[in-house]
Amino acid sequence: MSANVVAEEKEACQAKITNKVAIVTGSGRGIGRAIAEALLAQGARVVISDINEETCNNTAQELKDLGGGTLSCVCNVTQSESVEAMVAKVMEKWGQIDILVNNAGITRDNLYMKMTEQEWQAVIDTNLTSAFKVTKPVLKVMSKQRSGRIINIASTTGVHGNFGQVNYAAAKAGLIGFTKTVALEYASRTITANVVAPGFIDTDMTRALGEEIINKFKEKIPLKRMGTPADIAAAVLFFAGAGSYVTGQVLEVNGGLYT
Ligand SMILES: NC(=O)c1ccc[n+]([C@@H]2O[C@H](COP(=O)([O-])OP(=O)(O)OC[C@H]3O[C@@H](n4cnc5c(N)ncnc54)[C@H](O)[C@@H]3O)[C@@H](O)[C@H]2O)c1
Repeated sequence: MSANVVAEEKEACQAKITNKVAIVTGSGRGIGRAIAEALLAQGARVVISDINEETCNNTAQELKDLGGGTLSCVCNVTQSESVEAMVAKVMEKWGQIDILVNNAGITRDNLYMKMTEQEWQAVIDTNLTSAFKVTKPVLKVMSKQRSGRIINIASTTGVHGNFGQVNYAAAKAGLIGFTKTVALEYASRTITANVVAPGFIDTDMTRALGEEIINKFKEKIPLKRMGTPADIAAAVLFFAGAGSYVTGQVLEVNGGLYT
């Protein structure tokens, strides 16, 4: 491919994202923050949204001069009222929503026989039911616009399963089914819905596992390293920009580890 073609493609992708309004849930830190930064770098206006007030406001402040700017929305994705308030705030400020990234998530790992109902429910609520709650009011806006991109952050665990993560695997697998169905129901309105399924990514979530477990995982990854939040952001950019004819897809970003 010539340098000209590459430059033209980059420009076309950027043109699709410039000035668009994107909501990224859980973007106070980690993968969500990297996604926000990548969208801003393409000229988008980005809603930094997180349950943690401090990281939410700090991140929005730190990134405010990039791209089209940021809007801080403290939001708990498990609470419908909180979600409705966020959508209303975004519409008041920018009057449109073009990209939604359902990224907020938690883990409460335990072997199935030891897992409590609280651990099960917290993970289902935050990783799956949240997408039901956030996507609905956003789809109302996108339907009127007759365009939109929804990108849900699942996990390779939702595709293949994982020891100690029966709750997380069920939630992320559910998120994949949810996305494929939204993709079918909203294609007629030119709205796409896709999944990015990260493998083992270097964030606070995985650092909590400790060095020994991290090193064991690294050994198993064909590319021999953990992914970075920027690796995930690159995949999200594809679905948000250039990938206008791709919907209902699951893209694993996992360094080649398909188990
Ligand atoms: N790190 C990995 O290896 C990995 C792998 C696969 C999938 N994922 C997924 O990627 C996403 C981001 O993970 P991360 O590693 O950046 O995690 P992280 O813990 O670093 O960040 C998650 C963010 O979500 C926010 N959050 C948690 N509960 C929330 C709620 N109820 N409402 C709003 N915000 C809330 C947190 O405050 C935090 O800022 C998650 O959905 C996670 O399941 C991560």
